[in-house]
Amino acid sequence: DDARRIRASLLDWYDAHRRDLPWRRTKTSSRGTVNRSETESKVEAESAYAVWVSEVMLQQTRVSTVISYYNRWMDKWPTIHHLAAASQEEVNEMWAGLGYYRRARFLLEGAKSIVQGGMFPQTAAELLKVQGIGDYTAGAIASIAFNEAVPVVDGNVVRVISRLKAITANPKKSATVKGIWKLASLLVDPLRPGDFNQAMMELGATLCSTMNPQCCACPISDNCVAFSLSKSEESIEVTDY
Ligand code: ADE
Repeated sequence: DDARRIRASLLDWYDAHRRDLPWRRTKTSSRGTVNRSETESKVEAESAYAVWVSEVMLQQTRVSTVISYYNRWMDKWPTIHHLAAASQEEVNEMWAGLGYYRRARFLLEGAKSIVQGGMFPQTAAELLKVQGIGDYTAGAIASIAFNEAVPVVDGNVVRVISRLKAITANPKKSATVKGIWKLASLLVDPLRPGDFNQAMMELGATLCSTMNPQCCACPISDNCVAFSLSKSEESIEVTDY
């Protein structure tokens, strides 16, 4: 069906084009394996911390800027335990230039509470209970670090899905965004949710841009309603999104 074709094409494209970003080098393994070794859980938790730091930085800042901040951060606080022992002043100093200092405060407070709880939360539902972790961050950590089949929707994904389904509702309205989360949850690849979500974000950040989208290079243009309407009719343009 449609969802299966979209997943397969998007993941093939991602495998061929994915960037080698520092937070993508951490090893992940699948959740729910029987008798997971202690080492495996530890590797997952370290990867979850790395994904958390990178995704919080990426929320308002471009990838190219984030890379050096991320590397300096991980040099200084390589694990969540290191971070939990830091002061807010040190963290703010490290954050300087990234803006939205609330994000840095949430990272430090979240790290303290997770360390105090004794275990890194492993599901989106558990992650959401951490102060400062919202739907986006919970979905990113759960899918990328723990292979949970939950979606991640950022501004880029809103645009990709709006075009894919030719949704004309205002993307700034919370009801529209809520509907898009629902569609994303049906679309996410059950076996490679983290790669699928990152591929959607990357597609939106590159080919499926607001202006001048590169539909002829898009791996899922065959399934894109806005694209087919823009070819056949007068009423809708891909650039209307
Ligand atoms: N934008 C925010 N997080 C991202 C990720 N993990 N991959 C690609 N683009 C992103």
